[in-house]
Amino acid sequence: MSLSNPADTAPDYIRNLPRYVPGKPASEVKREQAKQSQPQRLHRMASNENPLGVSDKALAAMQAVMADAANYPDPSGHQLKARLSARLRVEAQQLVLGNGSSELLDLAARCFLRAGDEAVYSQYAFQAYPVAIHAVGATPVCVPARDYGHDLDAMRAAITERTGLVFIANPNNPTGTLLDAAALQRFVAAVPRHILVVLDEAYGEFLPCVENAADALHSCDWIAEHPHLLVLRTFSKAYGLAGMRVGYGVAHPAVADLLNRLRLTFNTSAMAQAAAEAAFDDADFLQRSRSNNAQGMVQLEQGLQALGLPFIRSHANFIAIDVSSTGRTGAEVAQQLLAAGVIIRPLGANQLPQFIRVTVGLPEDNVAFLGALKQVLS
Ligand SMILES: Cc1ncc(COP(=O)(O)O)c(C=O)c1O
Repeated sequence: MSLSNPADTAPDYIRNLPRYVPGKPASEVKREQAKQSQPQRLHRMASNENPLGVSDKALAAMQAVMADAANYPDPSGHQLKARLSARLRVEAQQLVLGNGSSELLDLAARCFLRAGDEAVYSQYAFQAYPVAIHAVGATPVCVPARDYGHDLDAMRAAITERTGLVFIANPNNPTGTLLDAAALQRFVAAVPRHILVVLDEAYGEFLPCVENAADALHSCDWIAEHPHLLVLRTFSKAYGLAGMRVGYGVAHPAVADLLNRLRLTFNTSAMAQAAAEAAFDDADFLQRSRSNNAQGMVQLEQGLQALGLPFIRSHANFIAIDVSSTGRTGAEVAQQLLAAGVIIRPLGANQLPQFIRVTVGLPEDNVAFLGALKQVLS
């Protein structure tokens, strides 16, 4: 048959992109339950969303700008950047706002990789990295993990003259591993300066040591000495705004300038900007997110220990659990939990078919998850 449509002639590296397999949306699960007339409380623990919901202050800020929806937003996000720049002690020119931090990691690949270049990332790291690398015709170089986390020595050794970019997730998703801040800084210093290091800190706000000087979230301070570092953060997790799609990057002004030129002009909406400003100022909400997460993590760890299920010690708002002792795959366990109204994520797509990942919920979500898991084991 002759070529019939443009999908047949798109570059191979696009046509071979894997499809993102999303978790089942809670709305769909609810619809299915309604059909079977078995309404059940649903526990959304699949997508690392904030179980506290959205901060009241962010909600009020969104409502206040809704009436202005006929107008384009501020393309530079001036007010949000002013807040970020004051708190992070960086210049506004060092900032780039994104439609979630996922847009920014994609933008980094488009900006700094050419077809044929290599980009280094870790086994079991965030799935969006190889997609972003493939999408520009570059070659992903996946470095075997060490203890389910990044092996920085091996990643350094994987850098060649063809490398254009390195992705690091810290803490990592889906394994929750955390790198030692000093080792990470040494790694960044060891990477040649023409190679961009993208340090993805989507879960950084959950680290218990955020207020202390020695923590990983001081990575923005490293940029002055390491102009090849791009730090990515998001409002989707600890700030409770996953649905608003807003994240930010911090880099050397020249790097930020290129990213700002390449991004779509109106990539963050007025509501997203207003919500992010308010959430960033809502110290009380952030504190509640962090403490709910810290307590919920202990609750889950203790429950898993009682059930005799091994897990990977996590520094984020989720935990990866090895369910091989059940004799079932992660996908099978996920299916059984779904029947009990608990939505979690099997990690088969992350080459961890014997694992599931559960997001820390409210205390009652965690109880429901552990109860349903106990049923699976019995
Ligand atoms: C490691 C990591 N980076 C980036 C993101 C992207 O988040 P968002 O686009 O919502 O900011 C996620 C989301 O799950 C993530 O896990």
